[in-house]
Amino acid sequence: MHSGTTITQFMIEEQRRIRGASGDFTSLLNDVVTACKVISNAVSQGGLVGVLGTAGSDNIQGEVQKKLDVITNDIMIKSNEWAGHLAGMASEEMDDMYPIPKQYPKGKYLLVFDPLDGSSNIDVNISVGTIFSILRCPPDVTEPTAKDFLQPGTQQVCAGFALYGPCTMMVLTTGNGVNGFTLDRNIGEFVLTHPKMSIPEDTQEFAINMSNQRYWEAPVARYINECLGGKASGREKNFNMRWIASMVADVYRILTRGGIFMYPKDTKDPSKPGRLRLMYEANPISFIVEQAGGVCTTGRERIMDVKPDDLHQRVPVILGSRNEVERVIRYHKEG
Ligand code: F6P
Repeated sequence: MHSGTTITQFMIEEQRRIRGASGDFTSLLNDVVTACKVISNAVSQGGLVGVLGTAGSDNIQGEVQKKLDVITNDIMIKSNEWAGHLAGMASEEMDDMYPIPKQYPKGKYLLVFDPLDGSSNIDVNISVGTIFSILRCPPDVTEPTAKDFLQPGTQQVCAGFALYGPCTMMVLTTGNGVNGFTLDRNIGEFVLTHPKMSIPEDTQEFAINMSNQRYWEAPVARYINECLGGKASGREKNFNMRWIASMVADVYRILTRGGIFMYPKDTKDPSKPGRLRLMYEANPISFIVEQAGGVCTTGRERIMDVKPDDLHQRVPVILGSRNEVERVIRYHKEG
């Protein structure tokens, strides 16, 4: 008999605190968790079951799709379309929103997800993850269109990510703090191992893709130069650098021991105001990071206040330990 709190127990206990809760949301979350367990299994088998490599297609963003991008997208769809909790879904891997097929009942929520974040890392056996966000379908809308998904991050009911690393983790928020669960493969359940996760206000660790240095704006260049110079450049401390190139893994590190993560605005491709997607990556991760006491900004505004105008919109992302992110915001104000 295990002695921990399972994610199912945790969710039902949370539900009991909300007067009038129907159990619909708990049941939806349960389906998302099941999908992540299925994905964890697929990812962990890798080359044994022939799931590595490219799929021979591009996604809407013109990026080469990996076989696992397609497989995991399908797992999310199949696990979540049937139960009657959702009015529609949207995925980083699909051009348009996904309506719930006619044979299934419809519900009051919208599910938005990146089925396999960091998938360029999959063939080299580095951690990847699934990011998701749950929104309410606008009242009286039964056949949602893409515009019904275009809600700012502040409207999210829940956000979470699964991290497929040395162990599989699930990190969740419903706006009441952040909790981390570890998959116990012996019982097939996520067990609460990291209650009330909290990001330290100070850090000496930064994460950025340095190869983009020549494309950065002045405030970011100034900040990173100071980190590189450390005490020699007037900062009170020296810094260390990490870049996993899987946002979920970089963010999990920050949730665990603090840090600052940046994929800022740059001039590399003027058609893209940033690399990361607002709906599938920046908003859900911002909800989690803010709930853990961190800060998330584009440099100029709070990410969760950005009014989306496209499902696949990109934004600059700067997030993590409060005192460092606030310094970068100040540098943006100073120009
Ligand atoms: O698609 C997003 C992503 O894979 C993130 O998970 C990660 O932080 C980033 O792209 C890596 O970008 P780059 O390849 O420029 O290091």
